[in-house]
Amino acid sequence: MGYHRAGFDVVGVDIKPQPRYPFEFVQGDALEYLAAHGHEYDAIHASPPCQGYSRLRHLPWLKGRTWPLLIDPTRELLNSIGKPWIIENVEDAPLGGVVLCGRMFGLPCYRHRRFESSMLLMSPEHVKHDQVIGNGRRINDRRKGTLNASSGKGAWGVSGIVTVAGGQFKKADGERALGINWMTCDELAQAIPPSYTEYLGTQLLSHLQHRMVA
Ligand SMILES: C[S@@+](CC[C@H](N)C(=O)[O-])C[C@H]1O[C@@H](n2cnc3c(N)ncnc32)[C@H](O)[C@@H]1O
Repeated sequence: MGYHRAGFDVVGVDIKPQPRYPFEFVQGDALEYLAAHGHEYDAIHASPPCQGYSRLRHLPWLKGRTWPLLIDPTRELLNSIGKPWIIENVEDAPLGGVVLCGRMFGLPCYRHRRFESSMLLMSPEHVKHDQVIGNGRRINDRRKGTLNASSGKGAWGVSGIVTVAGGQFKKADGERALGINWMTCDELAQAIPPSYTEYLGTQLLSHLQHRMVA
């Protein structure tokens, strides 16, 4: 959605059906699709599964589980195609590039995501997180507050920040947090705010326009 808002005609690829996807959709293996069709596109965005890179994989009940690690093969393939690309993943993933935060776009979430690209990407200023998560409480039971600058402790109240993960959020809160109103809760938990990709898509478009002139 963010790339669409930035001005791109978008085609999505996923190995699973995505009946609520708002643009042209191809079901299939993304790496196979890229190898066969990547050269037909102006630019490519990839969001490989993040579970194998997320710090949450260390939770005790996930011990022994494995997930596909697709970032390296995706980057290798994208470089071989030669079109501008952006790969997105969780902050801990083995990617270079910028980290975007919901607070940079006025959204009520943090949702840090890292973006590596074949081009130089800019990011807005990362303002200090001014709302904190209550100690010892459920993930969405957090308390508001502005961090006390001298003690580093929170002044508790009701928080407006939403963590869109783990099935612990209400759908309306997840929608408001990400700026998305066409997904199920499971899909929201996998998605990133369109504000992020609109911001990056604008840079990508300008890069492509300069390439055409050059
Ligand atoms: C981080 S989610 C991205 C979700 C969605 N693109 C979005 O932005 O809301 C990763 C997605 O990768 C899909 N996936 C996993 N392996 C894949 C593969 N080999 N080819 C295509 N899609 C794959 C999963 O089904 C999942 O929907």
